[in-house]
Amino acid sequence: MSWHALIEVSRESEEPLTAQIEGRIREEISAGVLHPGTRLPSSRQLAEDVGVSRSVVVEAYGRLIAEGYLEAVRGSGTRVAHHLSAPALPTLLDDGLVPPARWDLRPELPRGAGFPHREWLACYQRALQAVDPGDLGYPPLSGADGLREELARYLGRARGVLTTAGQVMVVSGFAQALGLLCTVLSASGIDRIAMEDPCHHRQRQFIGEVGVRPVPVPVDDEGIDVEALAATGVRAVLVTPAHQFPTGATLSPARREALVRWARDTGAWVIEDDYDGDLWLEPGARPPALQRLAPDRVVYGGTASKSLAPGLRFGWLAAPAGLLAALERTRSHRDLGSDVLTQLAFAELLRCGHFDRHLRARRDHYRRRRACLEQAVHRFLPGARITGSAAGLHAYVRLPHRVDEAALVGRALERSVLVPGGRRYHARPEGAAPALVVGYTAVPRTGIAEAVRELGAAYAPKPAAAGAARCA
Ligand SMILES: Cc1ncc(COP(=O)(O)O)c(C=O)c1O
Repeated sequence: MSWHALIEVSRESEEPLTAQIEGRIREEISAGVLHPGTRLPSSRQLAEDVGVSRSVVVEAYGRLIAEGYLEAVRGSGTRVAHHLSAPALPTLLDDGLVPPARWDLRPELPRGAGFPHREWLACYQRALQAVDPGDLGYPPLSGADGLREELARYLGRARGVLTTAGQVMVVSGFAQALGLLCTVLSASGIDRIAMEDPCHHRQRQFIGEVGVRPVPVPVDDEGIDVEALAATGVRAVLVTPAHQFPTGATLSPARREALVRWARDTGAWVIEDDYDGDLWLEPGARPPALQRLAPDRVVYGGTASKSLAPGLRFGWLAAPAGLLAALERTRSHRDLGSDVLTQLAFAELLRCGHFDRHLRARRDHYRRRRACLEQAVHRFLPGARITGSAAGLHAYVRLPHRVDEAALVGRALERSVLVPGGRRYHARPEGAAPALVVGYTAVPRTGIAEAVRELGAAYAPKPAAAGAARCA
């Protein structure tokens, strides 16, 4: 293998060649150009590339190894030392900068584990075999016809969505859909959108980025407060009716009726974010999509981020026909459609029943994890309680009022437990009751009890309970 590195020397310089090579490599490592673990050329190769004798390079490498900049591993050559990867400063949960922790309880994290690799591969292969060369051109902006048909069937059957293939748009995740919707609404003169408070903090940012002002509306155990919503005078609202994010509340039947009535009476739009509707874990029937009550006023959005993997960047909308045309127009100004092979593979996954089977298995898996979390919270966090419906990948744990949420999150991190506090999701964090938003998918089941025991120790300065942390 012939590795190449951009290292030059100057014959005019009075500095010896060995020192020049040593200095260049050290500088590039310090500047971050040469990354930890980067493979460097062999001494023979570098000598040839630079035009010096091999002993010059051997000596330069030898010094850098002695100084700890490089490491030589028998059989795998010379590399920039791995230990030079300075750990990122732990800025707690700032997006993109995540402090290292043994137990990662962040809620947004469905892990790749559980992804139906074999079925996806089979479906992708079948899609690829069946693909017509014409299908590999730019896809229709709303998605491949075959997938839109499968999605319309699936959404009707599994979520009670009243739609047709022609009203479905395939998107690169709900985040993209939200950006498109806000742009379309803003072009029609809507400059404020009501949002549940608390809600997903990134969604507040996304909406703000397209120039629409988010208006917080409180949420209680029955979901969004529709009277408070009506009092804002807005003409659009974003809601998570099946499983409010993050509190877990399910919009009560009375509030569902009231929300739809408000939309009809005022001509307002409701954007329904059904982000984990596929993963209802309660014993009874899950509530059908709100969209079913008012398909002319509600835009339904779903995503594969919780059910399959967020890395797919895959989601869908079911929108009233007029709105869909406007969404397509807006989209045509900013992108050229979603990856067509992923679309065809997903259509196949739906068509042959693998998606339903996968969801059934995931629900069983998450039920067991959630039960484990419930036991652990009961045992190690006295006075705390999980609120809302059992669904999806996270639970909202309300803490007793005397608990200092920020201090608890900080102390938990010292014990290697990474968990966000509930206030992070509030538009007005100061007034919010203390809570934790606990994801149960990124740690093994056996780790949940251990992680919550650590939380318990951080919560009550003395360990809350003695003995081994084990999930019964
Ligand atoms: C409330 C909520 N909506 C939607 C999504 C999914 O967004 P996307 O489909 O862009 O991954 C998430 C993911 O974390 C979420 O928490």
